[in-house]
Amino acid sequence: MTEKKRIKIVGTGFYVPDQILTNADLEKMVDTSDEWITSRSGIKERHIARADQATSDMCLEAARRAIRNAHLEPSDIDMIIVTTVTPDQPLPSTACFVQAGLGLPNIPAFDIAAACTGFIYGLAVGEGMILSGAARRVLLLSAEMLTKVTNWKDRSTCVLFGDGAGAAILEESRDESGLLSVFLGADGSLSQLLYIPAGGTRSPASVQTVAENHHTIIMKGNEVFKYAVKRMGESAESALKKAGLTKDQVDVFIPHQANIRIIEAVGDRLKIPREKVYINIERYGNVSAATIPIAIHELRQLKRFKPGSVMLMCAFGGGFTWGAATYRW
Ligand code: ACO
Repeated sequence: MTEKKRIKIVGTGFYVPDQILTNADLEKMVDTSDEWITSRSGIKERHIARADQATSDMCLEAARRAIRNAHLEPSDIDMIIVTTVTPDQPLPSTACFVQAGLGLPNIPAFDIAAACTGFIYGLAVGEGMILSGAARRVLLLSAEMLTKVTNWKDRSTCVLFGDGAGAAILEESRDESGLLSVFLGADGSLSQLLYIPAGGTRSPASVQTVAENHHTIIMKGNEVFKYAVKRMGESAESALKKAGLTKDQVDVFIPHQANIRIIEAVGDRLKIPREKVYINIERYGNVSAATIPIAIHELRQLKRFKPGSVMLMCAFGGGFTWGAATYRW
């Protein structure tokens, strides 16, 4: 029997802005404390973009690093996918700015909006593109600049988010390694639990929408929390099942880094030992779609993946969207 064709990651990289905002800095901005933020979210600090930086600037730096990491040239890439809900501007896509920045003429470039689940959605689309023959080598970028759509007077959201971009270069695998399974889901009926009200066609930007602060994130945090634990756990189980794997076979688990209590609750639900769960939320906060590719790059640098190591990833975000994937190194 011939093995199913699969894709693999041949290079990774990430970029976070230089400027760091600590919990002590936030104490001076809103009525909060380091103790509250740390105990409720696990976050100690986050990286914040400069006023003159846009999402594609972060993507470009992450892309260059991943291309170098893969020992490739930009011209070796033949498709660019950016997953983001914080694009440079509504038109054109952020991926088109990245294409121009890399100096790559004519290759397809497009965005996917799946919020914090963007990297998992991007893996699924990248897999489809490569295995169908539409692309040979895909540059997948997951990037968010949520601090530019944050209400800095709302203490329940402004302490949570950070900025950053993660990159992975995908191509067809010629060996046993690669993406084993992907599971995706969404429930648009719950969109009002995490959203930005204005700036689109439903409520175009106006003097009134700006005055009413309708261009920033509104979130019912404790509701999001409950759904996140449930859906991340379920999707991880579905992705494992699809790959014919058991929880015991997972060597490294990368949950989306939204909140330390969500991470621990999902890990406990799946009965994955704490030492297998990767956590870096204390340094970056919730970087939305970028959290998983940043974690993958850090784990590669730490040499945590041995040949054959099984990685499980899962995420949950606005939409709601959710998803999980399994991967063998
Ligand atoms: N500092 C101090 N007190 C605060 C702060 C703050 N920064 N924020 C809220 N509080 C207060 C509230 O006002 C409330 O006070 P009250 O009881 O007097 O009304 C109290 O703390 C409890 O508020 P809750 O919202 O119930 O606190 P909770 O324990 O749920 O923690 C949090 C809030 C951290 C937002 C949590 O719900 C959470 O992390 N939810 C998930 C959010 C998330 O992951 N979102 C992103 C997922 S999708 C994506 O990644 C985009």
